[in-house]
Amino acid sequence: MSSPNLLSILIFIVSAMNEGAAHAHTNNQTTWAKRVEKGNEVITTLQFYFHDIPSGPSPTSVRIAEAAQTNNSSSFFGALVMIDDPLTVGPDQSSKIVGRARGLFGSAGLSEFSLIMAVSYVFTDGMYNGSSFSLLSTNEVMHPTREMAVVGGTGLFRMARGYAIARTYSIESTGVAIAGYNVTIITYVYSDHTHG
Ligand SMILES: *[C@@H]1O[C@H](CO)[C@@H](O)[C@H](O)[C@H]1NC(C)=O
Ligand SMILES: *[C@@H]1O[C@H](CO)[C@@H](O)[C@H](O)[C@H]1NC(C)=O
Ligand SMILES: *[C@@H]1O[C@H](CO)[C@@H](O)[C@H](O)[C@H]1NC(C)=O
Ligand SMILES: *[C@@H]1O[C@H](CO)[C@@H](O)[C@H](O)[C@H]1NC(C)=O
Ligand SMILES: *[C@@H]1O[C@H](CO)[C@@H](O)[C@H](O)[C@H]1NC(C)=O
Repeated sequence: MSSPNLLSILIFIVSAMNEGAAHAHTNNQTTWAKRVEKGNEVITTLQFYFHDIPSGPSPTSVRIAEAAQTNNSSSFFGALVMIDDPLTVGPDQSSKIVGRARGLFGSAGLSEFSLIMAVSYVFTDGMYNGSSFSLLSTNEVMHPTREMAVVGGTGLFRMARGYAIARTYSIESTGVAIAGYNVTIITYVYSDHTHG
């Protein structure tokens, strides 16, 4: 005997359980990330600072390859850099670290200084500990602000799509560069609490 009532009660109970799990996350906010649920979607807005440190006693950014022509190019075309750059809550280097940007960027502009970023932003703070998003985009670093594409993610950012707005905060003569990031990511309510 099929009972539509029993079926809808079951669906109700299961979805109520999922809602409960989702709301547990909603109450677990961090200062640098805000999660808002809208229907089936979760909109997360992140605000942090990226520190690229190519010099000094413990660089987090190293040039690993270059083309023979790179030294002749005003835009360093062909240089490839590996990074493990800290991400912090505030612009200060001593500010709390909430994650790291790990990956590669290459100088991809023949005439303009423009990078191609293939970087995973891996978080270590609060409920985002272990979650990451992947960014794959050109980065017109000489522009004061630029937009980059978020193409995926893991953990709470599973199935992420979104964009990052980066704004240069400072560049020192030592090459140390700090950029502010505002990132908007869309995920799904039901994709983020099955970590198996
Ligand atoms: C480019 O210049 C740097 C610094 O002068 C040097 O170390 C490097 O070997 C040069 N690279 C090439 C491919 O000539
Ligand atoms: C660099 O430029 C100089 C001067 O224009 C040229 O003689 C040299 O061949 C160039 N080197 C490379 C690796 O392109
Ligand atoms: C993040 O997770 C790792 C591994 O699960 C754990 O060792 C670490 O203590 C956690 N860090 C924070 C800040 O919760
Ligand atoms: C936030 O969630 C994480 C992981 O789910 C947990 O370790 C942490 O204790 C929670 N923090 C608060 C303030 O509820
Ligand atoms: C990020 O958003 C905040 C608040 O809206 C704003 O003050 C800040 O300038 C933005 N930063 C970037 C890098 O866009």
